[in-house]
Order: sequence, then structure tokens, then C-alpha cells
Amino acid sequence: MARHNEVKYNKWGVHGAVLIVCLVALPLLILFFWQHDVKITVEKGLNYGSNETSTPSNNNYLHGLIPSNFDKESCLSRYEWPLFRKSFPYMPSSYLLHKLRNYEDLHKKCGPNTPLYQKSIQQLNSGHSSIEPMECNYVVWIPHNGLGNRILTLASTFLYAILTNRVMLIQMNDELVDLFCEPFPDTSWILPPDFPIKNLNEFDVNSNVTYGNMLDKHVIISNHSINTEVESLPSYVYVHLVYDYHALDRLFFCNDDQIVLRKVNWLLLKSDQYFIPSFYSSTPMFEEKLDRLFPAKESVFYLLAHYLIHPSNNVWGLVRRYYMSYLAKADEKIGIQVRVFFFTKVSSDVIFQQIQNCSKVESVLPELDFNGTKAFKPDEQNPSKAILVASLYSYYYEKLKSMYYEHSVKTGELVSVYQPSHEEQQKTKNQSHNKKALAEMYLLSLCDMLMTSGWSTFGYASSGLAGIKPVILMTIRNKNIPDMPCVREASMEPCYIFPAKPSCKGKTVDKEKLQQYVKQCPDFDHGIKLFD
Ligand SMILES: *[C@@H]1O[C@H](CO)[C@@H](O)[C@H](O)[C@H]1NC(C)=O
Ligand SMILES: *[C@@H]1O[C@H](CO)[C@@H](O)[C@H](O)[C@H]1NC(C)=O
Ligand SMILES: *[C@@H]1O[C@H](CO)[C@@H](O)[C@H](O)[C@H]1NC(C)=O
Ligand SMILES: *[C@@H]1O[C@H](CO)[C@@H](O)[C@H](O)[C@H]1NC(C)=O
Ligand SMILES: *[C@@H]1O[C@H](CO)[C@@H](O)[C@H](O)[C@H]1NC(C)=O
Ligand SMILES: *[C@@H]1O[C@H](CO)[C@@H](O)[C@H](O)[C@H]1NC(C)=O
Repeated sequence: MARHNEVKYNKWGVHGAVLIVCLVALPLLILFFWQHDVKITVEKGLNYGSNETSTPSNNNYLHGLIPSNFDKESCLSRYEWPLFRKSFPYMPSSYLLHKLRNYEDLHKKCGPNTPLYQKSIQQLNSGHSSIEPMECNYVVWIPHNGLGNRILTLASTFLYAILTNRVMLIQMNDELVDLFCEPFPDTSWILPPDFPIKNLNEFDVNSNVTYGNMLDKHVIISNHSINTEVESLPSYVYVHLVYDYHALDRLFFCNDDQIVLRKVNWLLLKSDQYFIPSFYSSTPMFEEKLDRLFPAKESVFYLLAHYLIHPSNNVWGLVRRYYMSYLAKADEKIGIQVRVFFFTKVSSDVIFQQIQNCSKVESVLPELDFNGTKAFKPDEQNPSKAILVASLYSYYYEKLKSMYYEHSVKTGELVSVYQPSHEEQQKTKNQSHNKKALAEMYLLSLCDMLMTSGWSTFGYASSGLAGIKPVILMTIRNKNIPDMPCVREASMEPCYIFPAKPSCKGKTVDKEKLQQYVKQCPDFDHGIKLFD
């Protein structure tokens, strides 16, 4: 798609030191950091919009996933990512496109500061849900944990909004400002700052407004033989789907509970998990819709994320400068993401051995030629490979770089090694750190092959965005070296690490059928994921 106009994107140019990265927090996840000088370069080959008719019809972007009525300049990543990455393995179903277009209309009608939004706020202030069905019902996403977690929960919450005809609004914490583009045309997904409930970030498993605690205190009764008076339902419920959730919180996924929750105008939802697999395994009322939305189970995160999550122009500037300067010319791009958890307790050298052991089994990195017999041909085009390292630490990058400096490789390829940043520690609350983390996820998503760390939501999000089944490094816990250094994933879907597994009363899903598309995660026995 090369076009030859030159475009300067200096309006969001970032001068000087840039760094980085990543993410996830708490008990599990990833992150890193680094430093790098970024030059503002004039980039060739990308120009849209100068002649509307010479660009593909808007509706062709990502096969119709992207709404046609956006201003392209406001969010370049939406249009450039598919140019950088030529393959798009899953077509959205026509039902998904239909639901997305309906959702966009609903969001526009009910979005912040519309009359219907104001009406819903009045209802919220009244303290109980409305007797009359409201035109607009909402689910508010509350950010929690690392950036990888947040991307997984945004996708999960959005699918819930589509399944239940709710409008999704997001609580915008400082560290998230200017990370993502607005996903819905002619409206905003940002919860207005004057939203009456102020302490969203403080809600936790013990709050009296969690769904579980309201069931426990009989503020809500989820039994449809008892015809719950809508007026007796609170105006909002806090849905706590964080890894420490209680048995009653987990009932959120049951059919009967969804029937009751349908009548609650506002749901406030906090999670750090990719909870979509539980809709498949526990909520029969969603079954038919899910089948129609995603004929391929493995496409769920991929399609949702490429609809919903687009880096802002500022973040995309990091991605495109780095990609075009270092990666674009390589014949093959290999991404290596290394997350080191506090419970790993081995030296970096052991982890590096694991990477090498894994690479031998799964043929990820180019093999060294210790005899040094293979010579380059100076006057010919030698095939090239770029290795992109994403880690909070520079150790792995330094090791790889020396390795390919000191030795040639058996295939005679030119191998270059890059790391955009090494931030040393994860800083979930830091906006500039999060921008680098997001940029690196997107750089990984442009690779042809990925080796990622098990249990890392950063890795899950990157592979999911890439649409690649990664090779996953098995997690080292307390110095225990796993027998197998890594496994090749059968699915590109993220793992739901601590699944709800609710004990539902009433209608349940056919367990046998379920086994055909929900399985254990290879890197974590308790986790579940979708596969085809
Ligand atoms: C835009 O494209 C159309 C169709 O290819 C062409 O006729 C027209 O001259 C172009 N306009 C400009 C300004 O390049
Ligand atoms: C929760 O506790 C607060 C005070 O701590 C109280 O004002 C509120 O009514 C309680 N809500 C519920 C649903 O019990
Ligand atoms: C629901 O309520 C009915 C009527 O009170 C009762 O018989 C039944 O056991 C309840 N079901 C559950 C699942 O609690
Ligand atoms: C790597 O492989 C070597 C040789 O098989 C083995 O001794 C070592 O324990 C492995 N290390 C890791 C971290 O997998
Ligand atoms: C180096 O080359 C010699 C002679 O061709 C061969 O016998 C030996 O196995 C090679 N060593 C390695 C490490 O490839
Ligand atoms: C945020 O992280 C960047 C590095 O990414 C650092 O330079 C900056 O000082 C940090 N800001 C705060 C407020 O910690």
C-alpha cells in the first residue's frame, strides 16, 4: 500500500528520551522499561485522506470492523496498523458488525451529557432502579491493575455491554489519559467527571455494594420464582471480578443472576481478568448470541480488541517511528517478551537459559554457527531477521545482542536485536510508563512470531492483538525449573487465570459441548481459555 507522499507527523512528535513500558500488576503480570532516543523522522509510505476516493472505502478497514464515520487524522493507528500488518486472520461475522453498528447508535443516543444520560443519572440519584424499563442502561469500567489486565478487561466488559445492551463508559484515571482513541463515533466513552459516585477506585471485595455482599445481605434476591419488585432493587450494583472475588460475587455469571441484574440500571465493574470464557461456560442465555457473534472462538479477543482498542496518535507515534526505523525492513520479526515475577526467585541467567532451551525445541531464534563458516555475501541482499525484546530489564537484550554479534547463524541471515525501553520496574500509575507499555504491546503485535512469558497479561494482550499463537515460556516458581521450558500455544486467546467457576442454580451450559471450546491454559492449570 505504499504511497509516495511525505507526511510529517510532528504535531505529536516526542522529542528526546523515550522509554517505556509495560505492565500488569499484582499477583501476576508484567512490565518493563527502557530508554531510547527517538528521532523524528519523516516517514514515507503512509498517506490517507488526501484523496478520499483513492483510499480504500472506509468500510473496508478491518473488513468493516471500523465504523465509516471517523475522522482518520484523529486516530491514525486505526488505519495504519493494518497496513503494517498485512494478515488479518479472522473476518468479523455479519452479526458482529450488525451488533457493533447498533451499539454505536445506542452509545450516541445515551452517551455522556445526552438527555437520556441525564435522566439515567437522576435515576441513579433516586437510589433504586426504575420500574419502567429505561432506554439506556450502563456498565462502567473501573481500571484495575496493570495495562495488560486493563486491555483484557476492557474487551471483556465491552462484550458484556453488547450482550446485555448496555452502554459502556470508562472511569478515566490520570494514568490512562491520552493512551487510547475514542472508539465510538460522535460521542465519548469517558465517564463524565461529575458522575455522582465518587469513590469508584476504592471499591473492593468488602464494599457493601458488591453484588456478592448485596446477595449476602438480601438487598438483592436472585430467584425468579420470587418476582423481585424492580423498585426494591438498588440503582446500581458494583460487580467485583478481581482475582480475590468471593463465591457470591462469582454468581454474576449465572443465568438467574443475569435475569435480575438486567433490571439494574447501572453496573459498576472492576476486574483484572479476561473473564469472557465464563460467559461461555456459565451463562446459557448468552450462548446463541456468542455463537453468532464469533463463529471462531479464537477470534473473540482479536476482533473485540481491534474494534475497541486503538493507541492514541501520541502512542502510535512511538510505534510507527520505532517500527519504521528498525523493524520494517526485516524479512522476519521475532518478538520476545520476558516478564519476571517476584516469585520466580532465579537469576536472569537462568531465565536466559530457559529462553535458549525453549528456542531449541521450538526453533524461535536463529541457530548459531559456532564454526563461523557461513559468510555473508556483501553484494547481495541477505535475508534478515529482527528480534524485538520487550522487558523491564536490558539483560536479555544485551545477551542476545552479543550472541549475534559474536557468532554468525547457520542460515546466513543477518540478525539484529532491538529493545525500545527498559523501565526496570512496573509503574502502573504512571502515564508515560503506560504509553511505552502500550507502544511495546503494539510493536509485538507487528511481529511474525512471538515468545511470551506465561501468566503475563502483557504477553496475552500482545499475542491476542498480533493474532498469533505464541510460544509460551512456562512460569518458574520458587526456583522450580519446569520440565518443559515452553509450550506452543494452541490458541491465541488470553487465559482467564482465576476463573469464576460459579455454582449456579437453574439453567446451566452443556458440559460436553463446552469441552469442545473451553480448555485449561497450558501455562496455568486453574486457568481456562477459548480455543477452536
Ligand atoms: C482523486 O482520485 C480520483 C479517482 O482516482 C481522480 O479522478 C482525482 O483526480 C483525484 N483527485 C486528486 C486531487 O488527486
Ligand atoms: C453502604 O454503606 C454506606 C455507608 O458506609 C451506606 O450509606 C449505604 O447505604 C450502604 N449501602 C448499602 C447498599 O447497604
Ligand atoms: C426460590 O423461591 C421459591 C419460592 O420461595 C423457593 O421455593 C425456591 O426454593 C427458591 N429457589 C432458590 C434457588 O433459592
Ligand atoms: C536448559 O537445558 C539444560 C540442558 O538440558 C538444563 O540442564 C537446564 O536446567 C535448562 N534450564 C532451564 C532454565 O530450562
Ligand atoms: C564444526 O565443523 C566441523 C568440521 O566440519 C564439524 O565436525 C563440527 O561438528 C562443527 N562444529 C559445530 C559446533 O558445528
Ligand atoms: C513516570 O515514568 C517516567 C519514565 O517512563 C519517568 O521519567 C517519570 O519521572 C515518571 N513520573 C512519575 C510521576 O513518577
